[in-house]
Amino acid sequence: MAGTVILTGANGSVGIPAAERLLNEYPQLTCIFTVRNAEKVDNNTQNLRQVIARCPDAKASIYQVDFANLSAVHEFASTMLTAIETGKYPALRSIICCASYWNLVGDSELTTDGYDKTLQVNHIAHVILVLRLIGSFASDGRIVLFSSIGHYRKPNAMTSYLPDIPDDIDLLNHPPSGKDKHDLGFQRYANSKLVITTWMYPLNRYLQQNPRFKNITAVAINPGGLGDSRCFTTNTARSTQLAQRFVLKPFMSMIRYLADPTFRSSAEAAVDVIKLAVDKAYQGEQGYFTLLQKDDSDPITMDESVQQRVWQKSLEWAKITKNNTALKNAIE
Ligand SMILES: NC(=O)c1ccc[n+]([C@@H]2O[C@H](COP(=O)([O-])OP(=O)(O)OC[C@H]3O[C@@H](n4cnc5c(N)ncnc54)[C@H](OP(=O)(O)O)[C@@H]3O)[C@@H](O)[C@H]2O)c1
Repeated sequence: MAGTVILTGANGSVGIPAAERLLNEYPQLTCIFTVRNAEKVDNNTQNLRQVIARCPDAKASIYQVDFANLSAVHEFASTMLTAIETGKYPALRSIICCASYWNLVGDSELTTDGYDKTLQVNHIAHVILVLRLIGSFASDGRIVLFSSIGHYRKPNAMTSYLPDIPDDIDLLNHPPSGKDKHDLGFQRYANSKLVITTWMYPLNRYLQQNPRFKNITAVAINPGGLGDSRCFTTNTARSTQLAQRFVLKPFMSMIRYLADPTFRSSAEAAVDVIKLAVDKAYQGEQGYFTLLQKDDSDPITMDESVQQRVWQKSLEWAKITKNNTALKNAIE
């Protein structure tokens, strides 16, 4: 099975074991790993480089793309388009949209593009990659988006504010600030996951309606609660960091057994992610998954009028037009 796989957030907690699995289990694939910082001072990128170095026959490249800068994302998409068009890289087999951001200790940050940083990194940047590159996919390509149990509009332990998709979706870029930084920050993250999950449905619809793309499919996976993820030490309070160190990590199996059957390690999640992205057994799968089980996403994600609003707004945010995507039937 030849082809190119783009993995974003490739030096993250799920990213590194996912990269390792791709390189070891699918050596025929060309792997494009994107990271926010490709400099040598970035220890996570250095860890990714070590993983690549352990696979001497790997066809792997690291690209620096900061998703908080949409021009950089468009530029990367253009680079990939040319590379695939000229035969430098084979056609895309999958894009795995793993990169993600949250800030549980500060207010919403507006990017230079004018969007909430959490929404931009988690969703808008991935919309650019998927829609700009859709014409570079193999006929049976796959798109793996990342959801979370946090996308459900029901109470959860991480926040007292539920996610939602407001009538005026632009409000997601101007979320409330306040003293309760942790809960408001998690709400921004959960909002982004709700938007991603909702967006996946019209994406599949437009793909199926287009004879050229009808066998390309998208899934959104809730990878589970990942007790060892470094997200718990990024932009989090000391109490969260301590909770991970002394409770979440050491008692991972007990938490899974007693409280949350989806609680597990990032490496375990990576196995499922790679299955959804490239394993023959998951060819043609689409929709929402909890781990590897097909599941129901929040009811609002199934509302076609909400889907349409999310779709239209995402095109606008990502600056996708008929001129820069091959999925022209999806553009009014
Ligand atoms: N961890 C969990 O419990 C959990 C639960 C449900 C869903 N998920 C989802 O699963 C996926 C993987 O999670 P994870 O635990 O592996 O997260 P993670 O360890 O925090 O990794 C996030 C990755 O995104 C990258 N990233 C952040 N900001 C970026 C930017 N501006 N530009 C480009 N890349 C950027 C990070 O790079 P830098 O560190 O260099 O910024 C890192 O590589 C995410 O989509 C997450 O939302 C995770």
